[in-house]
Amino acid sequence: MATKPEKLIVGLDVGTSKVCTIIGEMTRDNHINILGMGTNPSLGLQKGVIVNIEQATATIATTIEQAERQAALKIDSAFVGVTGGHISSVNSRGVVAVSKTNRDICSDDVVRAIDSARSVTLPQQREVLHVIPRTFVIDGQDGVRDPVGMNGYRLEVETHIATGTISALTNLFKGVQRTGVEVEELVFSPLAASEAVLSDAEKRLGVCLLDIGAGTTDIALYIDGSIWHTAVIPIGGNAITNDISMVCRISPEAAEKLKVKYGDASVTGPYKGLYADYYGKGPIKHDFRSRARQDEESDESSAPDEMLETEGLEHGRKQQVSRNLLNEIIHARTRQLFDMVQAEIKKSGYDGMIPAGLVLTGGTANLTGITDAAGHVLRLPVRIGAPRGLSEVAGTLSVPAFATSVGLVLWGMKKRSGVEILQNNSRRGGGAGLAVGRKFGGWLREFLP
Ligand SMILES: Nc1ncnc2c1ncn2[C@@H]1O[C@H](COP(=O)(O)OP(=O)(O)OP(=O)(O)O)[C@@H](O)[C@H]1O
Ligand SMILES: [Mg+2]
Repeated sequence: MATKPEKLIVGLDVGTSKVCTIIGEMTRDNHINILGMGTNPSLGLQKGVIVNIEQATATIATTIEQAERQAALKIDSAFVGVTGGHISSVNSRGVVAVSKTNRDICSDDVVRAIDSARSVTLPQQREVLHVIPRTFVIDGQDGVRDPVGMNGYRLEVETHIATGTISALTNLFKGVQRTGVEVEELVFSPLAASEAVLSDAEKRLGVCLLDIGAGTTDIALYIDGSIWHTAVIPIGGNAITNDISMVCRISPEAAEKLKVKYGDASVTGPYKGLYADYYGKGPIKHDFRSRARQDEESDESSAPDEMLETEGLEHGRKQQVSRNLLNEIIHARTRQLFDMVQAEIKKSGYDGMIPAGLVLTGGTANLTGITDAAGHVLRLPVRIGAPRGLSEVAGTLSVPAFATSVGLVLWGMKKRSGVEILQNNSRRGGGAGLAVGRKFGGWLREFLP
């Protein structure tokens, strides 16, 4: 194997349906060259969380080997994505008196302010995953991006804190470490995916990322350029597949094929089903048809049914499934999901506009008509987000399912080119320390408005 290049950055996404390892090399002008990648269907994971550590470790090891073989080098550490219903977030404020007698704010004051914000009382079984400074306030003046060197008596910081259960985080940590690779940092997946698919302009304007994977839907809401809310809904594409499998009494494999080939979540398509009450009310497309025409066309009977052939449960036996029934099942789940996303956004306490709308990513963003359905429930513009930001994104990586994997490499690049201030969950060397770093620089500035 060749000698290890400088500035090697590895992203490892342990998802419910697939594990993916990407080896990138950071160039001098802060770009990433992809050197190798490996991906394999997951085993031992449910709704984003490891439930069988032997199986999960074996899959992780396989993808690492694939990526190492392609890159012709060995890796020793990785930025690892973490998700699951156990992760929750809160915004917290920290306040300190500026320490120097001349009142010039130094990086130590910033670190103390962040430490004070992160001292929220945590239930015993939880661990802090991230403490992200959102904005600073100096003597009541808000909107300060970089307080170091400024003058004041009182420094406040607003932070976004994500926490997870110690058991789920430890199992993921162990699953990776058993392959001989150190966890450089556990990164909450939607924060990584945001790096790959959202633009700075969208974050400034206000945008909501939805990473709809197989087992979970991860949410990251950005306001004024910084993270406002994150959440995980334990529903993804697997739930749709399972519904189809149960209702139509076909195997999950056959249900998955039907979903991918014929599934249609669109509200304005021929089958409106459970979205019929939203029909024509969407905020994006104006419906210029007459009311009578709309009523006529929103009538379910206007969607002629079709029988789709699939594999029956009994070996070698074919079975027919109604296309309208298939779409009704898909509509029921997608509508439930987007209703839950809407409730989550409301719960976050943010009641303003999100002008840049929704950006859908993750494998389920490929479902036909999903932007239409999301737009009608949430009344926002919607686009699909595929990874960008790597100079040589290989064709296979530039699809929504790899947003988190690519995002982890980009997160790692920012981290390496910046500072340790957010290096809050690194357990390199086996220690469980969650210390906030002492340095301060570009990395922090990336998160501030
Ligand atoms: N063309 C398609 N139409 C509908 N669904 C699709 C399509 N392609 C992929 N999917 C769905 O995308 C999901 C996999 O997405 P992804 O790879 O993002 O999940 P993951 O990262 O492994 O899971 P998670 O993030 O939830 O832990 C599966 O449920 C799959 O059925
Ligand atoms: Mg995922």
